[in-house]
Amino acid sequence: MINIAIFASGSGTNAENIARIFNEGSRLKVALVVTNRRKAGVIGRMEALGVPVEYVPNSVWDEAPEKVVDLMRERGIDLIVLAGFMHFVSPVIVEAFRGRILNIHPSLLPAYGGKGMYGHYVHEAVVAAGEKESGVTVHYVTEEMDKGEIVMQERVEVTPDDTPESLEAKIHPVEYSLYPRAIVKAAERIENERRQDPPAPAKPSVEKEWADVLHLNYDPTKAEVPPPVPGSQPVSGAAGASGAAPVASVRSASPAVEPMPQAWLLWSVLATVFCCTVAGIVAIIYSSQVSARYYQGDIEGSRRASRRAEAWIIASVVVGVAMSAFWLPLMLLS
Ligand code: GAR
Repeated sequence: MINIAIFASGSGTNAENIARIFNEGSRLKVALVVTNRRKAGVIGRMEALGVPVEYVPNSVWDEAPEKVVDLMRERGIDLIVLAGFMHFVSPVIVEAFRGRILNIHPSLLPAYGGKGMYGHYVHEAVVAAGEKESGVTVHYVTEEMDKGEIVMQERVEVTPDDTPESLEAKIHPVEYSLYPRAIVKAAERIENERRQDPPAPAKPSVEKEWADVLHLNYDPTKAEVPPPVPGSQPVSGAAGASGAAPVASVRSASPAVEPMPQAWLLWSVLATVFCCTVAGIVAIIYSSQVSARYYQGDIEGSRRASRRAEAWIIASVVVGVAMSAFWLPLMLLS
């Protein structure tokens, strides 16, 4: 799924067209519309379609554009689509979404692009210049206004009797058919990039994390076959890379696991001894979690369970001694 955010300032006919087309399917979805105009026509159109709209004032676009980036990340936006967005898009946003922002412009760029050339002004300039053709361009947004890589273009004939209004009326339907196709093309590029993306770096192994906890210099590439891990089951017939005695743990994916500290095991045994008291039983429960969590990779949880087992064993001893001190004289006297 590719999540789209549309930035729009005006009537929003393009935004509505895009939302209607894509929100029917499951591959692309208009997840959010952002406007910089509190009364923009696009707001009502999107409310009617049930598409969430956020109003972001111009001060934020100008002075805190990173908030727009945060909003995009929060909503899981993959592609930003400008549809009549009449405000400067900060380089902060362009950088954060490089190659992920599209714009539609009502001329054959690079002609009639740049500062002051938007909406009706473009058609006025085209008609005033007596052009024989105009058109629609969809391009990627870069720091330079209307200069990014062109995704798609379509020509529209300008006749001698055309006015800016009649030209606009010819251009709009072309926009409605071109923009969705250009969005699909951009989405395909994103999907291809995703396929080629290298897998995320592997999490450090449990052994490495544990070595860090113990302040050991552990290098898995140089590690000797480690001693058997307490509680692990040797696998008969299996040998380490060095040909040493089989030590692979059935539960651990890697044989190179640092041994669990003896003290932890000791507390576990002590817990068993003092299990006759409630505190002892609680200690046993915690001590059983020590190795379970360790092998799940939850080292912090394992440590926590060890500390709790320790505390409850002490409580168990205290209760045990207190009870002996109470019962022993009575037993000797009887
Ligand atoms: C569209 O014609 C679009 O090409 C133009 O604003 C209009 C928005 O109409 N964009 C620009 O001029 C960008 N430089 P809409 O609000 O009805 O979609």
